[in-house]
Amino acid sequence: MGAAISIDYITHHYPGQEAPTLKDIQVTVAPGETVALIGQSGCGKSTLLHMLAGLLLPSEGCVRINGHQVIKPSPRWNMMFQKPSLYPWMTVRKNASLGLIFQGRKTDMRERIDQLLETVGLSEKAEVNVQSLSGGQQQRVALARSLATDPELLLLDEPFSALDAFTRVALQDEVTRLARERGISVVFVTHDIEEAVAMADRVLVMGSNPGTITAELPIDIAHPRDRNSQAFVDRKAELMGYFGATRTPATDKGSAEAEAPTPDTESEQDESSSSESRARVRAA
Ligand SMILES: Nc1ncnc2c1ncn2[C@@H]1O[C@H](COP(=O)(O)OP(=O)(O)O)[C@@H](O)[C@H]1O
Ligand SMILES: [Mg+2]
Repeated sequence: MGAAISIDYITHHYPGQEAPTLKDIQVTVAPGETVALIGQSGCGKSTLLHMLAGLLLPSEGCVRINGHQVIKPSPRWNMMFQKPSLYPWMTVRKNASLGLIFQGRKTDMRERIDQLLETVGLSEKAEVNVQSLSGGQQQRVALARSLATDPELLLLDEPFSALDAFTRVALQDEVTRLARERGISVVFVTHDIEEAVAMADRVLVMGSNPGTITAELPIDIAHPRDRNSQAFVDRKAELMGYFGATRTPATDKGSAEAEAPTPDTESEQDESSSSESRARVRAA
């Protein structure tokens, strides 16, 4: 069962900074939901994610997971970063096993890791040193390590941004599939609009100075998501709109109906009014 998260009116001042980095952030995440945090560099996305992980305490407000205030890290929620942070002198198997070893959960560890390495496509590499792997393969090891402890929540901070486009797309789809199969809640930070639309059930747009949630957009497209479908292209354009970019006009409504039969794609109304009905712009 995925974790239920409640971010209760978080405001954060880093020591020495005049203005708050985060202000009055209020968000809830349902068990099993995947939420994207998107915003320009420096708006406070990583700061907020570190608070969810229990790595940083807010100056005001708190994070609750399953009703309990988060005051320190826990093996029930795992964080993945842009760099996979593996131990370079260890094998793939050993790295993937670390979470279980730290928890003293060695029963069935071998079978469990075998299964996970198969899931992430690394069975052949189990006994190989991680240094000989590509960046994408190393990130898969980190993913296997994160999943091994059966977390209720995955926190991902731009985990695929250092990867090539093909590997990035494959891992986005894989993490989404695995999280859905296992009912894990996911909160991920990205500055990649396509990544947000590909993975999230809901996208939270963050503005800066101070960091606040300025808008939220549900992504009501069935999985697996076809990135060429009209619904997908439309959501990307809507999100782009929040960053002052040119919006792509909606065309070819016929194919959208076949791909994603949502009320919005079925209707012939003009895109700006349909996005208004779906997106909620939060008062600054
Ligand atoms: N440890 C810190 N001490 C002081 N200021 C920090 C610290 N970490 C981040 N900041 C500042 O807080 C703001 C938000 O940073 P961050 O959360 O990393 O943004 P993002 O992940 O959205 O790029 C930035 O202005 C950054 O300089
Ligand atoms: Mg960051």
